[in-house]
Formats: sequence, C-alpha cells, structure tokens
Amino acid sequence: MEDFKEKTSGRVPVHVSIIMDGNGRWARQRGEERVYGHTHGVESVRACVEAAAEAGVRYLSLFAFSEENWGRPEAEVSTLMRLMFKAIADEVEALKKQGVRFRVLGDMDRLDPALVEAIRAAEQFTAPDPGKEPILDLIVFLSYSGKWDILQAAKRLASDYSSDPEGLAAAGPEEIASRLVTAGIPDPDLIIRTSGECRISNYLLWQAAYSEFLFTDTLWPDFRKEEFRSALEEFSKRDRRYGKVK
Ligand code: IPE
Ligand code: IPE
Ligand code: MG
Repeated sequence: MEDFKEKTSGRVPVHVSIIMDGNGRWARQRGEERVYGHTHGVESVRACVEAAAEAGVRYLSLFAFSEENWGRPEAEVSTLMRLMFKAIADEVEALKKQGVRFRVLGDMDRLDPALVEAIRAAEQFTAPDPGKEPILDLIVFLSYSGKWDILQAAKRLASDYSSDPEGLAAAGPEEIASRLVTAGIPDPDLIIRTSGECRISNYLLWQAAYSEFLFTDTLWPDFRKEEFRSALEEFSKRDRRYGKVK
C-alpha cells in the first residue's frame, strides 16, 4: 500500500465507475454458458469493493444491467435478476461489516417487486448510523440508462416549474443534476470499461461530461484487485483541464 500511495502521489479518484462487460465472452472461451461468466463476475465485484475501500475511493459505482439489456433472451434476463438477488443476500452482511453503504439506482418500476423489496431492505440495512460516514458508497445501476435518467429529470423539472415559466427559463444545469437519480453523488472521476469495447452504451451520459475514461481488454470476470489498482495509477497521471489552460 505504501508503494501504491507513492505511485499515485495521493491523487485518488473520489468516484470510480465501472461498465462491467465481457462476462459472456469469458464463459464462451471456457466452453461454458454465458451465466457461468456472470457468476464469476460477482467475484470481481467483491475484489473491486475491497480494492476501492483500501485505496480510499469514496464512491464505487457499477453498471450491472442496462435498459437495453431487457432486450436479451428472457432466460438470461431472469438469470441475471436471480444472481442479483443472490448476490445481495450473500454480500449484505459483509458490506455492512466493512462500513460500505449499498444503493441501487435505475428504473425500479421494471423490476420484480420481490427484488425491489430485497434492494430496499439491503439499502436500509447498510445505511450508516446518524452522523457516521460510510467507508465507501457502492452504487449498482440496474435497469438504468443515461437517456432515461435525463428524461425523467427533465419531466420532473417541467412539472416542478409548471406554474413558473420564468423560473424554468432561468434554470441552469444544476436544476437537471439535482433531479437525476445520482443527485448528491459526485460525478465519476474515472470510468473504466472492460472487455475491449470503447463505447459508453447509454450509461452516465450527463454525469460523464468530464470523466476520465479507461478502456481495458480484460474481460470483467478477470478484472481483479491488481488491475483496479493499476487503473488508479493511470488515473493519477491524467491531466484534467476542464477546458482551461494550465
Ligand atoms: C456484461 O457482460 C454483463 C451485462 C451486460 C449484464 P455481457 O453479458 O455483456 O458479456 P459479453 O459482452 O456478451 O461478453
Ligand atoms: C453494457 O454492456 C451494459 C452493462 C455492462 C450493464 P452491453 O454488453 O450490454 O453493451 P453493448 O451492447 O455491447 O454496447
Ligand atoms: Mg457485453
């Protein structure tokens, strides 16, 4: 860890977000069904939670299931939902013990009510005691898309200002940001995508405005602590200019 602190010169991202991709290909390479890859992907989640907490990352968010993923074969969708259910049941105690606050963001209306209930219970269980800060916020994006998020924020904005057209005309970007499902969560400093795909796939479109991106060929089930740490090292070397001149 001393070595790691030296390598990053203390420049650790506050919020790291990961597009966890490549489970299907990982399984296929082993002659197995896609679900085998999803199951092993859960172990990478555990590894990254530990690595993030150890490195002093404050928010770790994970893209687990997109709005577009509802279009996959029904068997795969239900397997993924079952895995989510199982992962919550298996991990919630350990998360609480580690001081990790767990949250799920996305279009809950499309999820099975029993899963929503399990999610809400886990969120309550891991909520920090009053006046206490969690070590890490673990945020899972489920049934989420960036366009859906911006649209629901825009609709709420219009409805909130329905009798105040002048207020609406004067609204700035913070009026959208405060209505996104990520309200109160700092924008991701670093977005990692595994599996060699170099696209955002309708993820955090608004929030990624000034994120640093890191694309790796590693398939998600192989993405473990060491690679998480090297991603943080790479981030520490980036020069973030925000359109200005240094
Ligand atoms: C990521 O792995 C998990 C989800 C999108 C739910 P994939 O299932 O997309 O795996 P590949 O990209 O087909 O290999
Ligand atoms: C993106 O992965 C969504 C998640 C990781 C949850 P996909 O595998 O669905 O993305 P595309 O279809 O290759 O863009
Ligand atoms: Mg994929």
